[in-house]
Amino acid sequence: MKVLVTGGAGFVGSHIVDALVENGHETVVVDNLRSGHEGNVRSDVPVHNLDIRSPELARVLESERPEVVCHHAAQTTVKGSTSDPKYDADVNIMGMINLLQGCVSAGVRKVTFSSSGGTVYGNTQNLPVKETEPLDPVSPYGITKVAGEQYIEYFASNFDLKYTIMRYSNIYGPRDHASSEHVITVFIDRLLAGKTPVIHWDGEQSKDYLYVADCVAANLAVLTAGDNEVYNIGSGQPLSVNQIFRELTRQMGVDVQPEYGPKRAGDVRAFYLDISKAQQQLGWTPRVSFEEGLARTIQSYRDATATHA
Ligand SMILES: NC(=O)c1ccc[n+]([C@@H]2O[C@H](COP(=O)([O-])OP(=O)(O)OC[C@H]3O[C@@H](n4cnc5c(N)ncnc54)[C@H](O)[C@@H]3O)[C@@H](O)[C@H]2O)c1
Repeated sequence: MKVLVTGGAGFVGSHIVDALVENGHETVVVDNLRSGHEGNVRSDVPVHNLDIRSPELARVLESERPEVVCHHAAQTTVKGSTSDPKYDADVNIMGMINLLQGCVSAGVRKVTFSSSGGTVYGNTQNLPVKETEPLDPVSPYGITKVAGEQYIEYFASNFDLKYTIMRYSNIYGPRDHASSEHVITVFIDRLLAGKTPVIHWDGEQSKDYLYVADCVAANLAVLTAGDNEVYNIGSGQPLSVNQIFRELTRQMGVDVQPEYGPKRAGDVRAFYLDISKAQQQLGWTPRVSFEEGLARTIQSYRDATATHA
């Protein structure tokens, strides 16, 4: 089938593009290259260098006529959303509405959406968190992801458009960039530069981390399944910052003690997702162990550092 990936030059989107092509799908990308890079996109995939808020998007959708739009373009950080909530809302809400209107006009069958399991539920203590947990975001980024979900549901209820919402945990893997502020990427970046990672709080706080290939597999599954459903997509397991630090330094063969810094506003003790709905309904399950995912990630960053040296 033909699939258009917004944000396809970014970290997660570019891995989805690779897998779509490898599975025989005709694939095109829309990305304004704000945090993504054209070099992330394989050369046989066309890239429309375009903002999802642009009126030009409707014309691209009309001419490309994809069957599915896989929506990953976004303002992606909590920090970016607190420092500039207007920009966050502009991209994540106005961009989303522009995209949905274009999809309806172009006869797109389905939109799949990368929401955020780590922020839409807020600070709930009901662990592991199920999809039925009330949405209670505490950051502008979480708020705009919830709004995005609700706009998709509105468009699907009123027009001939289907959707699947995926609430990701913390995705890690090759091509992530340290500016994402994802702890695994930041730690590898610092260790490769010979610097000491800083662990905020006591490091016993834990979250749910999923290797990017497993996230991609969920995206492939929802091309043809899970219509008008919402799924948590994560490992379903909590992993502490100290555990990440220990495994990273072990695999990288470095002997450093972490520096401990103050707890940051918003840090929570434990957070992980209940992924049983996706496992049962999509036949999807995470396949890459943390040790294996980390080994692949470290190797890719070492390769990239060697290439740029
Ligand atoms: N990586 C994670 O852990 C994670 C977790 C939850 C949700 N998500 C969501 O997954 C999606 C992809 O995240 P990522 O980690 O790959 O981030 P990323 O920054 O690598 O990718 C985002 C892409 O969108 C593009 N983009 C940004 N604004 C745009 C605009 N206005 N018009 C067109 N393109 C634009 C960027 O250039 C980039 O290529 C995002 O929607 C993000 O919110 C990611």
